[in-house]
Amino acid sequence: MSGGDSNLDFDVRRNSAPVSDPERAVLLANPGFGRIFTDHMVTIRYAEGKGWYEPRVEARAPIPMDPATAVLHYAQEIFEGLKAYKLADGGVALFRPDANAARFVDSAKRMAMPALPEAIFLESLRQIVSIDRQWIPQDPEGSLYLRPFAFATEAFLGVRPATEYLHLVIASPVGAYFSGGVKPVTVWVTPDYTRAAPGGTGAAKCGGNYAAGLAAQAEAAEHGCEQVVYLDAVEQKYVDELGGMNVVLVLDDGTLVTPPLTGTILPGITRDSILKLAQRAGRAVEERPISMDEWRDGARSGRVREAFACGTAAVITPLGMVRSADGEFTVADGGAGEVTMGLRQELVDIQRGRAEDTFGWVQRVF
Ligand SMILES: Cc1ncc(COP(=O)(O)O)c(C=O)c1O
Repeated sequence: MSGGDSNLDFDVRRNSAPVSDPERAVLLANPGFGRIFTDHMVTIRYAEGKGWYEPRVEARAPIPMDPATAVLHYAQEIFEGLKAYKLADGGVALFRPDANAARFVDSAKRMAMPALPEAIFLESLRQIVSIDRQWIPQDPEGSLYLRPFAFATEAFLGVRPATEYLHLVIASPVGAYFSGGVKPVTVWVTPDYTRAAPGGTGAAKCGGNYAAGLAAQAEAAEHGCEQVVYLDAVEQKYVDELGGMNVVLVLDDGTLVTPPLTGTILPGITRDSILKLAQRAGRAVEERPISMDEWRDGARSGRVREAFACGTAAVITPLGMVRSADGEFTVADGGAGEVTMGLRQELVDIQRGRAEDTFGWVQRVF
């Protein structure tokens, strides 16, 4: 297998000491999010001049690293996140995995890393879901969260693209994001931190973006908020996104408004899916800058009826209250809006195979 081709001949080496059935049942009873992991992982290596090689499925295990491994110093790393869902008929499917594959290629380019061919990315997902299928929770709200990632493995201290990389996929069973029903969150508009400037890495899914957001997340928690709203880095005036979700407002005439993809925000696959569903239903959709003034004044006047954040982990999270250094405001009555919850249901039903998939988004694994 080399850089450009997609020979998908995985060497499958089953874990000789997998978690027992009773032990797994206990773990799956309350999986939480990102706490427990399956028995296997995918590994694929890359070396300059050789391309991608040794595609394997093997027992999940620590990865030994030289202290000079490039990623530990200069953070050449990218990742993706998507879920495998149990379908109503007992099968298992992925939701728009081709979009994750394409975004992974874009992230690789931005971080000067070799792009993993999309066909290999997709096959690596099918491999782990197949071998670890018993780890998919039975709970109709549960799923198997898949985490493909790649990083620079070359042992070298110098600021240049590495010549060796490792691609992995690990899997983590997850429960319902909101146990006990969807709850609106309170968000903090940080006055101190920005997430991404024009020309930066905001549109790439690289670990560094998230490390840089941890101080802002701590600031939000100090102010009693669950999530951070980042404003644009140039004027500190327009909404970019949350730390791990895109933002959408619903206006009083039913229009959806969301910040445009100009390179500073992550092009969310949930965002794209919701906009497409809304457009198909005849709803107006505007991708344009949203100023904090528009959001605040609109919430007060009733022009902004609902606000939500969207992403793979929680699908759609209503934004009930917005807090900043200047004060706070609620969006409508601070509850989960009708349009928000309708879009959420529509999307979840497609993902779970309960509604017709006219866009061809659901890719069955088996
Ligand atoms: C910064 C950021 N924005 C938006 C999203 C939503 O993207 P998606 O809908 O593809 O999960 C994520 C999550 O992946 C994210 O980390």
